[in-house]
Amino acid sequence: MKETKLWINGQWIQTEKSYSLTAPYSGEEIAKVAKASICDVEKAIEGAHQAFQSFKKTTAYERAEILYKVVDIMRGRKDEFARILAMEAGKPISAGLTEIDRTIATYQFSAEAAKQSMGETVPMDAAPGTKDRIGYTKRVPLGVVSAITPFNFPFNLVAHKLGPAIAVGNTIVLKPATQTPLSALVMAEIFKEAGLPDGVLQIVTGSGGELSDTLVTHPFVKKVTFTGSGEVGLKIKEKVGLRKITLELGSNAAVIVEPSTPIKEIISRCVGGAFAFAGQVCISLQRVYVHESIYEEFTNAFVEETKKLKLGDPLDPATDISAMIHPDEVHRLKQWIDEAKQQGATVATGAEFTERTMTPTVMTNVSPDMKIVCQETFAPIVSLVPYQSLEEAISLVNASDLGLNAGIYTNVLTDAMKAAEELEAGAVVVNDIPTFRVDNMPYGGVKSSGYGREGIKYAIDEMTDLKFITIKTVI
Ligand code: SIN
Repeated sequence: MKETKLWINGQWIQTEKSYSLTAPYSGEEIAKVAKASICDVEKAIEGAHQAFQSFKKTTAYERAEILYKVVDIMRGRKDEFARILAMEAGKPISAGLTEIDRTIATYQFSAEAAKQSMGETVPMDAAPGTKDRIGYTKRVPLGVVSAITPFNFPFNLVAHKLGPAIAVGNTIVLKPATQTPLSALVMAEIFKEAGLPDGVLQIVTGSGGELSDTLVTHPFVKKVTFTGSGEVGLKIKEKVGLRKITLELGSNAAVIVEPSTPIKEIISRCVGGAFAFAGQVCISLQRVYVHESIYEEFTNAFVEETKKLKLGDPLDPATDISAMIHPDEVHRLKQWIDEAKQQGATVATGAEFTERTMTPTVMTNVSPDMKIVCQETFAPIVSLVPYQSLEEAISLVNASDLGLNAGIYTNVLTDAMKAAEELEAGAVVVNDIPTFRVDNMPYGGVKSSGYGREGIKYAIDEMTDLKFITIKTVI
């Protein structure tokens, strides 16, 4: 049985308390995980503050070399890491391998960005009496960044915080999700091997609001970056005061399918977007608005394709969908579906439950105020809804407090542009599902879906201060 420790100042630190980590699919205990005390978190923050004093002076070249080394090491250990994801997150091995490839790309983008963090010159003779000066801006690191990450992409969403922070010379205290600490802890080993100085990356594991409170309120912490639920995000925002903050929160992502769409070509993509990692993805396809002229054909094809998905052990390469992260989730989702059924919704396929799993579920006859439509399900549940006009579809998508990515399939350029302008979302994806993300693109939500943007260049802007320097060239 693996027993984990905290990673502080380049040392593995034993804690008095631990908790038991169980695999979502088998329910077996897979590790005893160190539970940090507030004192441990303070020590980690103080060590990161100390390490910042020298790390901020490293060159872009040195930081890029460390990140390139991480890329090299990860390339040689992909299968091992995908197995960690299968064990601790219940992520099917094929999806796990995709996540590892994306993680490698995220560190690679970070290495490249380290060398491209640029300022600009500012014209200093643009107002009367201001000649004989030059002015320029540069990006400077902030200091200690607290990073709190979710269970659904335990390697890649950690990389979205560590990569840009290290690229610009910040130090980090990372608290990974309680359910997925093993993938984060392995990164301590990798960064050490890659030459990252001690104290630049600290990892504290455990649970409880008090740990998070320390991470977001300690005076040495200059920036908080959080990915997770809206409820927790809001609490963090209330506590951070004047610190910088990035919040990547949830969504109920929608796609509009216009009549010009070749249904056969998009069905497996849409089904994949709805059910990958059992829908436990912030941009999982949860609402599909289909033009009434093709609704029946689309629904039949979608249901048929959904029935082909194989539910099972995440370690089996043939598995498409495995356990929910926790049995409590199965319980919640059963209640949400029962409630929707009582309100008139129909289960077109799925909605079969065991203690740990649920089958991919397609719902029809839903209405906008049902929980499965208006709230984030974070589950393998998708609703198919017919509409009559594009205006109606856009207003149905926008009738939500959430807005991360949105999508539209259409061959009509003017309709695509109308959707691009009018959909209330952080990103609009034309001719693809909203479950689309490449790791260098800006990623983040509007309305209650978040605050700030990730995607390396954009995260770097949020993890640095803009400094202006002006020089008088004639005294
Ligand atoms: C998320 O769930 O927020 C991340 C989705 C992704 O990176 O694909």
